[in-house]
Amino acid sequence: MEGAKPLAGKRALVTGGARRIGRALALALAKAGANVAITYRGSTEEAEQTVSDLRELGVEAFAIACDVREEASVVSAVAQVVERLGGLDLLVNNAGAFETAALEEISVEQWDAMFETNTRGPFLVARSAHAALKAAQGRIVNIGSLGGIHPWATHAHYCTSKAALHMLSHTMAKAWAPQISVNCVAPGMIVTSEKVDAAYEHFAAKTPMQRNGKPEDVAAAVLFFATCPSFITGQLLAVDGGLGL
Ligand SMILES: NC(=O)c1ccc[n+]([C@@H]2O[C@H](COP(=O)([O-])OP(=O)(O)OC[C@H]3O[C@@H](n4cnc5c(N)ncnc54)[C@H](OP(=O)(O)O)[C@@H]3O)[C@@H](O)[C@H]2O)c1
Repeated sequence: MEGAKPLAGKRALVTGGARRIGRALALALAKAGANVAITYRGSTEEAEQTVSDLRELGVEAFAIACDVREEASVVSAVAQVVERLGGLDLLVNNAGAFETAALEEISVEQWDAMFETNTRGPFLVARSAHAALKAAQGRIVNIGSLGGIHPWATHAHYCTSKAALHMLSHTMAKAWAPQISVNCVAPGMIVTSEKVDAAYEHFAAKTPMQRNGKPEDVAAAVLFFATCPSFITGQLLAVDGGLGL
């Protein structure tokens, strides 16, 4: 509905919300009326800009530094968010890592780093937010990946970490019902810059919808899970223009 604010007064946290897809998710939630906290790790300036853009939309917004690999950092960041927002209705686990590597050359350090960020990170953030989300009858949206559904040969550690995040989403949905609904959005090839790149064109040509995804496509799916009946839980929604078919 034009002008409707389905998330008016709701309190949301988007991890890794300073730039790229996370920024688009934060802005979409704010446009829907939510007060939004974002976390950032290295992108301090982008986080400040995003907070300023969020406030322009007339909502409360702030950014907190957080490294999702560090338990103490996560516990402290989530506590600050809950304190400042006065509770939490929606957690979007967006922060993630991506890397290209030949499977036979992936080191233990690379493997563990991928899982620390993409799988253990969302677990730690969700665990820290559990009490507040339970109290608010809230929701979690995890950002998975088409790579967690379909194998990408040169991204084995990434794909496996996202497949694990998909299962974590299903497990959380079952464990934390009926108070918290948990769903997962699995983006395909999402282009966040205007830059023309031959690889992007290759993916667009392979995609049934004949284009790559935009951050706004991912935001629409997150907004759906943020506003749909809480009876919809434990679901995995690919946003890939049919690339995975
Ligand atoms: N882009 C795509 O085509 C695509 C496709 C499928 C799935 N996805 C998923 O969608 C999400 C967003 O994608 P994206 O391309 O926008 O991601 P991205 O730019 O690679 O990363 C998003 C943010 O994650 C944060 N981050 C990384 N490691 C972190 C850590 N240890 N602790 C805290 N924050 C950390 C970074 O924050 P700072 O910048 O502040 O350091 C970064 O801005 C990710 O989960 C990604 O896996 C993306």
